[in-house]
This record gives sequence, C-alpha cells and structure tokens, in this order.
Amino acid sequence: MSSVSPDNNGAAEEIIRLQKFLARSGVASRRASEQLILDGRVAVNGAVVTELGTKVNPATDTVTVDGAEVLLQEESVTLMLNKPAGYVTTMDDPQGRACVASLIPLDAHPSLFPVGRLDRDTTGLLLFSTDGELGNKLLHPRHHVAKTYYALTQGVPTKEAISQLREGIELTDGMTAPAQVDLLEGDARTQALKLFSFDQKGASGTGNGAKKMLRARKNRGKEQAVVRLTIREGRNRQVRRMLEAVGCPVIALHRQSFGPLNLEGVARGTWRALTADELSVLMSL
Ligand code: URA
Repeated sequence: MSSVSPDNNGAAEEIIRLQKFLARSGVASRRASEQLILDGRVAVNGAVVTELGTKVNPATDTVTVDGAEVLLQEESVTLMLNKPAGYVTTMDDPQGRACVASLIPLDAHPSLFPVGRLDRDTTGLLLFSTDGELGNKLLHPRHHVAKTYYALTQGVPTKEAISQLREGIELTDGMTAPAQVDLLEGDARTQALKLFSFDQKGASGTGNGAKKMLRARKNRGKEQAVVRLTIREGRNRQVRRMLEAVGCPVIALHRQSFGPLNLEGVARGTWRALTADELSVLMSL
C-alpha cells in the first residue's frame, strides 16, 4: 500500500511533501517543483500526481519526473574518527577483519566513505565524508594538505637522518618532498608518548600492532625515539618507509592532524561531525 496521500499521518520525519522531495533531490526549486507537479510531469509509484499536498515516503515510494526516477540526495556529512589500532581502512573487508565502517554512523549516512587511509595499526585522525567532491579535493596531490604524525621508533634518528628526512629521502617510488621533522624531548616527548598507550585491539593480540608492541617491550633496553613529522604527500606507508630508510623502524604511528583539523576532544574509537566553519576552511584550502 502506497504512503502517498495528502493527509498521511505516518512517521513525520520520513514522510515529506512531494515538492520538498523534488527540491531536496536537486530537480528544481520548491516553487518550480510545484509547477512540475501542476503540469502533470511528476508520478509517484507510476501514478501521475497533480495535487500539491501529496506526501511521499522517500524510503518506499518511487518518484519520477518525465518518466526518469528521482533519488533523494542525502545531506552531506563530513566527520573525523579517532581511529584505534587494529582496524583496516575499508568499508567492507572480505577477510572479515575489523574495519573502520563499524566505528562510524553508517545507518544514518550510508554513503560515508574514508577520505584517504591509515594503515591497520596506525591510530588517529581519519576523515569520512558523503561529499565526493570534498574527498577528491582533499586527496588531490596538488592541494598538499599537511598531515602531522607522531611516530615511536626503534632507535634514535641522528641529526644527519633528521636533515635527510627534512630535505627529502629516496624511496622506491621516488624522492619525498620536504617535510617538517622534529625529535621530541622533555615534556613534548612525554605528552606524545601518551598517544601510544595500548588500546584494546593492540593489547588483545588481534593485529600486527600487538606483535610490534611485544617486540618493542623485548627491546626495552634499546633506545626509542618519538619523532613528529608533517608531510604534504600521501604515499602508501610513507612515514613508516621514511623512518625505516634512516634505520629507525616505526613501532607505533599516530596521526594527530589533517590540514586545520586536529583530534582535540575526540577520544580513541569515537568520532565527531565537522562544524560548518571547519568545512568552509577545508573547502577553501
Ligand atoms: N604513513 C604511514 O606509514 N602509515 C599511515 O597509516 C599513514 C601515513
């Protein structure tokens, strides 16, 4: 039974006026949509509708204009997740591994997709959006969005290694662009070390992170370092490969910021939607 009716009393938030449905779908303005209805160009579930009070349920009714189906555009949403270790950056993993899709509000926003990726054992800021245009823009190498990482390394990079990392380092896929690189000491190091405290997944032994942490524990006698790097590229496993290239393999890696956004106030494993101000800054990058 169709929900189409001028006086439908169904769930208020699901049932909307036909002209509003058309306007939200981007067919035409509300006023122009009314005219389309009056002109007999709109059908609901195959029946032409000319009454302006008609309501539709976007989840169950099929609306056409001149015979072409119209789909309701989801309002665009962009959010940041503080990713825990042990989750792969994919919306569906055929191997059944834990994936980031389980940590975001997919029921409310089914078309969310990750903007870029973090390795399974990398923690920190991962953006999701329903807005493909924004996603493409942020990932395009031309836009050079700065991303800041904190790496816990096995071995302490020498001054020479730090200079190499800053200037550019030869990787299998070419030289890296100049980066900001600092070896953290004192309070800055103590604060950063908190980012690497074990989370449930890492500690329970489900990911590579657990193995690495165990190895790190065994190596406790050897010196470890905390390195902060800001890079503007987004190559696969770039930070890990850069540090490996100077003889300081990464034990744990965390991304704290992406462009103007940082994770302040967002606990590990939780997310928050970006504000309108944050979105407009991202759009203007
Ligand atoms: N660089 C890496 O090596 N890994 C990540 O997850 C992100 C950046």
